[in-house]
Amino acid sequence: MYSLLPTHMLLLLLLSPLSWCMDLDTSSSASICADTALIQEGMLDYYEGTRYGGTVGMFQSPYYWWEAGEAFGGMIENWFLCQNDTYESLISEALLYQAGTSYNYIPDNQTMVEGNDDQGIWGLTVMDAVERNLTDPTGDNVPGWLAMAQAVFNTIWARWDDQHCGGGVRWQIFTWNSGYNYKNTISNACLFQLAARLGRYTGNDTYLDVAEEVFDWLVDVGYVVLKDTANVFDGADIGDNCTDITKLEWSYNHGVVLGGAAYMYNATNGTSTWQTRVTQILQGATTYFFRDDIMYEMACQDYKTCNNDQRSFKSIFSRMLGFTSVMAPFTADTIDPLIKASAAAAAQTCNGGTDGHTCGLSWQGGTHDGYYGLGEQMCALEVIQTLLIHDRPAPYKETTGGSSQGNANAGLDSLSTNVLKNELNIKQKDRAGAAVITAIILATLLGGAIWMLF
Ligand SMILES: *[C@@H]1O[C@H](CO)[C@@H](O)[C@H](O)[C@H]1NC(C)=O
Ligand SMILES: *[C@@H]1O[C@H](CO)[C@@H](O)[C@H](O)[C@H]1NC(C)=O
Ligand SMILES: *[C@@H]1O[C@H](CO)[C@@H](O)[C@H](O)[C@H]1NC(C)=O
Ligand SMILES: *[C@@H]1O[C@H](CO)[C@@H](O)[C@H](O)[C@H]1NC(C)=O
Ligand SMILES: *[C@@H]1O[C@H](CO)[C@@H](O)[C@H](O)[C@H]1NC(C)=O
Ligand SMILES: *[C@@H]1O[C@H](CO)[C@@H](O)[C@H](O)[C@H]1NC(C)=O
Ligand SMILES: *[C@@H]1O[C@H](CO)[C@@H](O)[C@H](O)[C@H]1NC(C)=O
Repeated sequence: MYSLLPTHMLLLLLLSPLSWCMDLDTSSSASICADTALIQEGMLDYYEGTRYGGTVGMFQSPYYWWEAGEAFGGMIENWFLCQNDTYESLISEALLYQAGTSYNYIPDNQTMVEGNDDQGIWGLTVMDAVERNLTDPTGDNVPGWLAMAQAVFNTIWARWDDQHCGGGVRWQIFTWNSGYNYKNTISNACLFQLAARLGRYTGNDTYLDVAEEVFDWLVDVGYVVLKDTANVFDGADIGDNCTDITKLEWSYNHGVVLGGAAYMYNATNGTSTWQTRVTQILQGATTYFFRDDIMYEMACQDYKTCNNDQRSFKSIFSRMLGFTSVMAPFTADTIDPLIKASAAAAAQTCNGGTDGHTCGLSWQGGTHDGYYGLGEQMCALEVIQTLLIHDRPAPYKETTGGSSQGNANAGLDSLSTNVLKNELNIKQKDRAGAAVITAIILATLLGGAIWMLF
């Protein structure tokens, strides 16, 4: 009997799952969710929160705090799109723990390094929890996810600075961090998008007014260049009134601006102003960040110079394209085929590593390219799961299925005390450390290197 199944056949059977597992059927939710489950397991290999002595909500070094925020945004979407509850409590615990004691995503541990962009990325993630109706955390005096998103909005908006460059928030929150004089696109794009989403979700027009103001500033200052194929540049120093613009183009800047515009289009019931803006920014996105219909990070991927942060950008970019396709349905015919081609290409690169399903950085080559890490996993996860974006409900509003408890004034009371408290902490123990970090960043800056979120 056994001779019917010779040893080499048995081996083949045992081995076949490895080569078979990342076969992606882009039209099957079972295939998409099986593949993304494997990819998420690869992500969680870098997660500290489930290890002995590890910090909940943090990924291991060298992955910074902001990237954890980006990662949990992708995981909330996977939980919702695949309706798989396996990691629901892991996600909720991480979101709650990293909110910090004031529930505004300025946890004490990050004071040394946290910028408006880092807080903003976490803000978009907790907003996703709201729009996907993730159950609010429980406990005495623990606010809902909506109140936490509002706290992020309120604290960043309170930092709006019209003394320089006619407006905008700076890159850094704290004066002792270098980069304090740089006003970057991502910080302002996160504020813009968070305002747009809060406005759409709550129906409170004040948020939409703020979103308009932030967007207008991004255009006035020349960071967003509206034309048929729009540009989104990185930022500028306040020293020359933000006129000497760093003209690097990153998919995450472009994506967060695009997603915000799509939410504005939807929240304003499809005004032609926002329709034109979405069209132009999308045309830029498809021109600069796709080659042969496959997504790539234009500024660094071909040169093999992408750093850890940059290797994760296609992740949030994919999520934003998905939201755009839903919020501004006229874009679906453009976006959906690009997601499909990119998802199929990404899956083909998830055949690396000792587990046989580690994903690569470049999706152009049809196989794993030798790069691996948290960013590579996140990008593959998000582009593949975005295939399901039309199969599940659109992000909820308060009136269409959302249930999180809000508080329009959240975070405002912590505004002055937080900075003061953190300043004291710094004086006590970390001043030397802060000086060293500042010196390193400054050296990098002056060396003309590409410098990104810290
Ligand atoms: C749900 O996620 C878990 C953990 O990744 C995975 O083992 C399981 O196969 C997933 N279920 C489905 C139906 O994909
Ligand atoms: C802050 O860092 C300490 C020491 O590593 C850790 O025990 C604690 O859990 C961290 N808190 C947060 C919110 O990350
Ligand atoms: C600084 O830039 C802003 C925005 O572009 C502009 O409105 C303002 O007039 C400029 N100020 C000066 C002094 O040039
Ligand atoms: C959009 O339409 C809804 C429902 O018709 C209405 O309540 C809301 O005021 C409109 N919003 C805008 C900005 O026109
Ligand atoms: C807003 O988004 C919803 C959900 O996708 C969609 O049904 C609706 O048509 C959108 N509104 C406009 C004006 O396109
Ligand atoms: C949102 O969550 C609440 C509380 O868990 C629940 O009652 C409600 O049915 C959920 N809404 C949707 C659309 O699932
Ligand atoms: C609308 O939002 C603004 C800004 O946060 C807030 O001051 C105001 O109280 C809100 N209005 C309502 C009715 O919640």
